[in-house]
Amino acid sequence: MKITAVLGSPRDASVSTRIAMRLIEGARNAGHKVKIYKINEMDILGCHGCGCCRKYDTDCVIEDDMEEYFKDLRESEALILTSPNYYSHVAGPMITFMNRHYCLLDKDKNPRLPREIKLVCVFAQGAPAGYEKYLPNYDWYISTFTSKNMELAGKIIAGGDSDVSEEGEIMTKAYALGKSL
Ligand SMILES: Cc1cc2nc3c(=O)[nH]c(=O)nc-3n(C[C@H](O)[C@H](O)[C@H](O)COP(=O)(O)O)c2cc1C
Repeated sequence: MKITAVLGSPRDASVSTRIAMRLIEGARNAGHKVKIYKINEMDILGCHGCGCCRKYDTDCVIEDDMEEYFKDLRESEALILTSPNYYSHVAGPMITFMNRHYCLLDKDKNPRLPREIKLVCVFAQGAPAGYEKYLPNYDWYISTFTSKNMELAGKIIAGGDSDVSEEGEIMTKAYALGKSL
């Protein structure tokens, strides 16, 4: 199957990207095709709030890199999203990206995606992985996708105290998750 991934960290040495790449390795080894977007290399405007999508039952009408993404998403059976935690929350560019999914509900709030898509999210934070204060923020982010015909297939949170070595628990989990998609 086809999978789309959007990597939300701007850093080369990113924890969330490393975990996602392991996940993607698992998915590719299972025979899936994965297209990777890096949010910092994308030209993405904020939602204009024009309401055209819901009025005319269309994907977002803004002409930027989200056009190609939406095309890929429609052909995909899974979506992988990652983000660093910046100031307790998903990083700004990934929120702008998320806002643009307003078009995936029609005017009656029915999902516009033709089929259910599996969603996998990876978050990296400096605080320990068990730090509970951020959980509602991640869940809120996830819920804006799961309300649009996506089903959460897996969530990984890496904290500053997590073992993210190649043979560590998180990488092993990421690979297995990717393989199971
Ligand atoms: C601008 C900025 C704000 C941050 N704010 C937080 C925060 O509020 N809580 C936290 O646990 N970590 C915070 N961090 C640390 C990052 O979440 C952490 O370094 C994480 O590994 C970044 O993800 P990445 O490695 O995938 O880029 C912040 C880092 C930056 C650069």
